[in-house]
Amino acid sequence: MSMKATSAPIFSTLIFLLCFSSTVVSVSFSKIPLPLKATGPEAFAFLSRAGDFYTGVADGRVLKYVSQARRFEDFGSFAPNRSNLCNGRVNDPNCGRPLGLALHHATKRLYVCDAFYGLGVLEPEGGVGTILSSSADGQRYRLCDGLDVHQQTGDVYFTDASSNYDIRQILLAVAKNDSSGRLLRYDLNTKQVTVLLRNLSGPGGVAVDKDAQFVLVTEFITGRTKKMWLKGPKANTYDIINSQPMPDNIKRTESGNFWLAAVKRNLTTLSLSIPIGQWMNASGDVIKTVNFGPWYGLKPVSEVQEFLGKLYLGSMFAPFVGVYKD
Ligand SMILES: *[C@@H]1O[C@H](CO)[C@@H](O)[C@H](O)[C@H]1NC(C)=O
Ligand SMILES: *[C@@H]1O[C@H](CO)[C@@H](O)[C@H](O)[C@H]1NC(C)=O
Ligand SMILES: *[C@@H]1O[C@H](CO)[C@@H](O)[C@H](O)[C@H]1NC(C)=O
Ligand SMILES: *[C@@H]1O[C@H](CO)[C@@H](O)[C@H](O)[C@H]1NC(C)=O
Ligand SMILES: *[C@@H]1O[C@H](CO)[C@@H](O)[C@H](O)[C@H]1NC(C)=O
Repeated sequence: MSMKATSAPIFSTLIFLLCFSSTVVSVSFSKIPLPLKATGPEAFAFLSRAGDFYTGVADGRVLKYVSQARRFEDFGSFAPNRSNLCNGRVNDPNCGRPLGLALHHATKRLYVCDAFYGLGVLEPEGGVGTILSSSADGQRYRLCDGLDVHQQTGDVYFTDASSNYDIRQILLAVAKNDSSGRLLRYDLNTKQVTVLLRNLSGPGGVAVDKDAQFVLVTEFITGRTKKMWLKGPKANTYDIINSQPMPDNIKRTESGNFWLAAVKRNLTTLSLSIPIGQWMNASGDVIKTVNFGPWYGLKPVSEVQEFLGKLYLGSMFAPFVGVYKD
């Protein structure tokens, strides 16, 4: 009897230690530091399987990460007279603020939402980008935010998070329960912008299906992800497919699932403070949730992008790009 009583706890402790240590050991996290003064890599666009990527930072620059040299280069910006005096500034209209970005791989053009300037494009050699659209239906964009490119057509899906508040007034937009955001599409052939959805509550992220059957758009303020049908019997209607507080960017994976950057409630403090990634299918069913709190603390993560089996993490508040693997 006494043998049994002592060996059972020892045995279960061993099992616990084995399970616990194996999960801890298999998770890795590393940081790719940004250049001096740069913060807030909000989104990523990978150039090739070599691992080079673009990201936009708070002082208006689009940076290019050269994987082989393991360093960032200044690549471009949208403020017409941006100078290096901008470096280190945060959300200055004279400097610009690139947010969502995506490459059209056939042309190597980089499409970018600059929060202040609107939808723009950078040629493969970089430099000062061209603004393609800064208003639609007579309404100026105040906060160009999420962006994705449909590779087959080259059409660009993007959001204006608000017609009333710019990036410096996000907290006010939340407090006022703003619902003046729009989902838009730039047609590469006609160069025209179409409003797909209006009255959105802080649409921060967008992801288009590989075959453009549908487009997903997140609403930061109401905590929802909508799926708008572009083709088929439900075309031009939408479903709410996911509810999760403060959803930001959403990125399609190679297999056709999606990673959503969002926030979870801390059950001790009851505050919405745990940065998470949610892996979901095209119906919004969550397959897996990853907690990034151990590396980001209370700071939200803006993007979770899968690339060659690792997750690249963006954040408006971090001076690094996080790389997570489990
Ligand atoms: C850029 O131009 C605007 C107006 O054209 C001006 O207000 C601003 O100060 C300029 N910024 C820089 C950095 O020179
Ligand atoms: C905020 O706006 C959304 C969308 O317009 C609406 O569904 C919701 O009820 C509003 N919430 C509050 C607290 O007013
Ligand atoms: C929807 O947005 C339009 C402007 O784009 C506005 O005129 C209209 O009042 C809004 N509708 C609601 C229900 O908020
Ligand atoms: C919740 O908040 C408490 C108090 O700040 C902290 O100790 C704990 O680690 C948090 N839980 C999670 C899951 O982050
Ligand atoms: C998503 O997952 C659910 C169940 O987890 C499944 O029923 C559904 O068919 C999936 N949808 C897609 C589009 O893969």
